[in-house]
Amino acid sequence: MIRFVTGNEGKVREARAALDARVEQFEYNYPEIQSDELATIAAHGAREASREVGEPIMVEDSGLFVDALDGFPGPYSAYVEGTLGIERVWRLTEPETDDTAAFRSVIAYCEGSDLADAPTVRDGDPPVAVFEGRVEGRIVAPRGDGGFGYDPIFEYDDRTFAEMEPEEKNEYSHRGRAIDAFAAWYGADR
Ligand code: IMP
Repeated sequence: MIRFVTGNEGKVREARAALDARVEQFEYNYPEIQSDELATIAAHGAREASREVGEPIMVEDSGLFVDALDGFPGPYSAYVEGTLGIERVWRLTEPETDDTAAFRSVIAYCEGSDLADAPTVRDGDPPVAVFEGRVEGRIVAPRGDGGFGYDPIFEYDDRTFAEMEPEEKNEYSHRGRAIDAFAAWYGADR
């Protein structure tokens, strides 16, 4: 069983679907370090939680990267959502000619021992495997009632993520892709 460190039940449901329910939600308040790299933040969290708990741990960190704003708000997406709000992120982007952006997600997995067979491993003690997913889209005026966070201002293929059913969003989303990459490696033999 993998313990997924998150307060978000929706993320747990997505992971359970991809991993045949071998995931359980785990509330653990680890100190989130500041870094420009999602992978560094997630790997640190997974390592700390695994050391403390002594069981396989998964941590996910995600963010919205607006190209014309040099990747802002990026790793600071949660803070910016809570301070400026998503409408102001759209307004900051509106005067720019380039409205492209990407959602990125990183899954960090640590089981307290060697993970040399994983595609990307962050060395340290214990080592942590990282898996990335991303989706490219455009920043638009808010539309739609579904989803959460920046979904209303992120358009993919003519619809915002907030205008899609959850299953459809999961199919295209950064997190869905990161979870699929992790599930492909984790496989059925563990
Ligand atoms: P966290 O990784 O869950 O802390 O999310 C970081 C920030 O990115 C928060 O502001 C979330 O609202 C936002 N975010 C992450 N994933 C998504 C998504 O799928 N849709 C919209 N916003 C997201």
